Amino acid sequence: MEQMVKGTYVYKVDPEKPDPNKIAACAWLLKTGKTVAFPTETVYGLGADALCPEAVAGIFAAKGRPSDNPLIVHVAKREDCELLAEPVSARARRLMEIFWPGPLTLVLPRRKGVSPLVTAGLDTVALRMPDHKVALALIQEAKMPIAAPSANVSGRPSPTCAAHVLKDMAGRIGAVLDGGETGIGLESTVLDVTRKVPVILRPGGITRLDIEAVLGEVKVEKTQEDEAIFLPRSPGMKYRHYAPEADMLVVEGNPNRTAEEIIKEAKAASAAGKKVVVLAPKEHLFRYEGFWAVSMGQEKKPETIARRLYKLLREMDDLRVDLILAQGIDSSGIGAAIMNRLRKASGFSIRRV
Ligand code: TXA
Ligand code: MG
Repeated sequence: MEQMVKGTYVYKVDPEKPDPNKIAACAWLLKTGKTVAFPTETVYGLGADALCPEAVAGIFAAKGRPSDNPLIVHVAKREDCELLAEPVSARARRLMEIFWPGPLTLVLPRRKGVSPLVTAGLDTVALRMPDHKVALALIQEAKMPIAAPSANVSGRPSPTCAAHVLKDMAGRIGAVLDGGETGIGLESTVLDVTRKVPVILRPGGITRLDIEAVLGEVKVEKTQEDEAIFLPRSPGMKYRHYAPEADMLVVEGNPNRTAEEIIKEAKAASAAGKKVVVLAPKEHLFRYEGFWAVSMGQEKKPETIARRLYKLLREMDDLRVDLILAQGIDSSGIGAAIMNRLRKASGFSIRRV
């Protein structure tokens, strides 16, 4: 049966074969305008009826999310896109056929009926079909497109298990479907296909190369992080996303010099009485002998880093760490998404050596 934590129902389900009664209970909550958190293949989402503005308002309230940040709408069938977007170009259809269900969000021209609350007043809407049986079962049973951002308090690391959701959201949301840990661990790739040359707005589970193999040329939005490397700490970059409570510095470059720089910083902060942890790929832990160093996962298998990154950041909060020193990794493939989140988590406190 379900449990309750501070007024939020917790329904534990088998991620491969979710109990239809528990799915029905959560679908009912959605139909009555409540919010429900659910697992996807990337991170946990906080869902509400995308076609009901009051329900969508509940998401913004629970997360403390600024209203100028639009939501992704989740569908279970490609046909449902027609309710939300118009026109759905041949190019978009092709991407759906190849990558859906999966971690690719497509930004398309929105239909008039879609609430401006969902799209933050933009004339586009972001759509995705998650590759997770629990998410798909919930959307199908509720018979509605589900607007869902990551199920964390705004600015915090995204949740990769139900315990993370409850830590942030217990008492603020209707229910959580606990389907265990998510697989990819970082959010979907957001691709704007309304422009002549499609643009990656957020790197994620589907890589630039994956998309280029289908479409040819693809651009990557020039982000704050690129500028931050050249103009460290310029105004306007102080806003943190995916952020732990600890201060954080990301050191990038040649591994020998990176380790030297990290050790120098670790010594100084320790001498000042701070609790310091080094996050580095497993293959590089040997460089930090005598320091508290934790494995991010394997550099050779960056998907292992993606999977545990947010969990690690949350664990460092639980341990009341003052300073996290992170060793950067190669930013090709899924590494682009990992470095994007690490840099943002640090509030663009980045050093290149
Ligand atoms: O993997 C994911 O995408 C997860 C799971 C739950 O599906 N969702 C997620 O949602 O990460 P959220 O709200 O944390 O991030 C949504 C991103 C934001 O960067 C937002 O600005 C962008 O998508 N976005 C949404 N609608 C957009 C639009 N119409 N145009 C441009 N960007 C949009
Ligand atoms: Mg988010």
